[in-house]
Amino acid sequence: MGKIVSLCKRRGFVFQGSEIYGGLAGTYDWGHFGVALKNNLKQSWWKKFVDSRKDMYGIDAAILMNSKVWEVSGHVAGFSDPTEDGKQFNVMFKTQVGAGEEAEVSYLRPETAQGMFVNFKNIVDAFHPKLPFGMAQIGKAFRNEIAPRDFLFRQREFEQMEIEYFIRLNDWEKYFEYWKGEMLDWMEEIGIDMNKIHELEVGDADRAHYSSRTIDFEFDYPFGRKELFGLTYRSDFDLKNHKLEYIDEAPTPEGVGVPTESVGNKIVPHVIEPTFGVDRAILALFLSAYSEDDKGGEVRSYLKFKPNIAPVICAVSPLLKNKPELVEYANTKVYAPLKAEFGRVAWDDNGNIGKRYRRQDEIGTPFCIVVDFDTLTDDTITVRDRDTGEQERIKVADLQSYIKERI
Ligand code: GAP
Repeated sequence: MGKIVSLCKRRGFVFQGSEIYGGLAGTYDWGHFGVALKNNLKQSWWKKFVDSRKDMYGIDAAILMNSKVWEVSGHVAGFSDPTEDGKQFNVMFKTQVGAGEEAEVSYLRPETAQGMFVNFKNIVDAFHPKLPFGMAQIGKAFRNEIAPRDFLFRQREFEQMEIEYFIRLNDWEKYFEYWKGEMLDWMEEIGIDMNKIHELEVGDADRAHYSSRTIDFEFDYPFGRKELFGLTYRSDFDLKNHKLEYIDEAPTPEGVGVPTESVGNKIVPHVIEPTFGVDRAILALFLSAYSEDDKGGEVRSYLKFKPNIAPVICAVSPLLKNKPELVEYANTKVYAPLKAEFGRVAWDDNGNIGKRYRRQDEIGTPFCIVVDFDTLTDDTITVRDRDTGEQERIKVADLQSYIKERI
């Protein structure tokens, strides 16, 4: 874990929040490559769960919400952790909206979920979706954790990617299983080490106040087996409390799937909630990708990120940075076209080639491309593979297709 924390700082992924003033516990700042990694992760999630589906509606709700939301949702009464001396401490951050006597109490949202429930009617009125359908949101959540710890694992400000999937009561078990499969597929797709994933059926005493059933997907972190993501059947708890309903137009086959809560054709849909923490996903990715090997007596550390997640797809280097003809060729004939095509392309001419490889290995860059003196005469370059360290000489004209084939 210590190795990953120092790599994150050294290579510009993640820094302690407010570091020059001694830090602020439970907060982290993201550097250039950390932001890129997070963006790739969030894009992959959005692509799978929103863009590639017909039944999902994206939303980006406000972080500050009317305090009634949190009273009705049960968070004001029940979102508490026991302190060391056993007093219950509500972990929502309280704030005020407005000035003086007019000021109203508000809270920084402790989950993105409520921003979706309170917009349920807006989505139904705007898009007329048929059940089952879902809402999806990515955004910050805040919890005044009593003991923030373990780097990105338990923070006071973090990010969630959540889905509220609205179904008919009788279908909940079917969709619970379905979403379990979808969640596992995505974990594998982004490169989480699936040998370190375990499912935990959360017992009655440990479930959140809104949950009728929860499975935690746990991960083997260096500090123990702990929650990574969760899947919950929230029943009709939230929509019912917010007094929201849905006109179900679907004909119900006689005797099959009759919603017990039907009033005419007005029903309160039930909810399956797959929830993902962005920061824990990133931590699990670092822990899955971090590798070491021995290259000629020197221990090398590298991040085996999949190319779709890696912050940089390839780095371009002129062999020597004080040879204008190499720099000119590398810049105009290699870097510029790759940058235009792939975006996530780095220019690296700092230090000798060995140092550049070590640096790119630690950033997790799958390919390093070097322009040398032969390039000037035969239009070929070397491409080095991050994981094997092997180099291939290929034509500059074939470079784009070479990379495309491998990502
Ligand atoms: N809407 C349901 C919900 O918020 P949760 O299990 O309390 O459920 C969802 O949180 C996910 O958010 C967790 O699975 C975890 O990935 C992430 N998470 C929760 N608390 C966190 C914290 N203090 N720091 C970082 N991530 C956290």
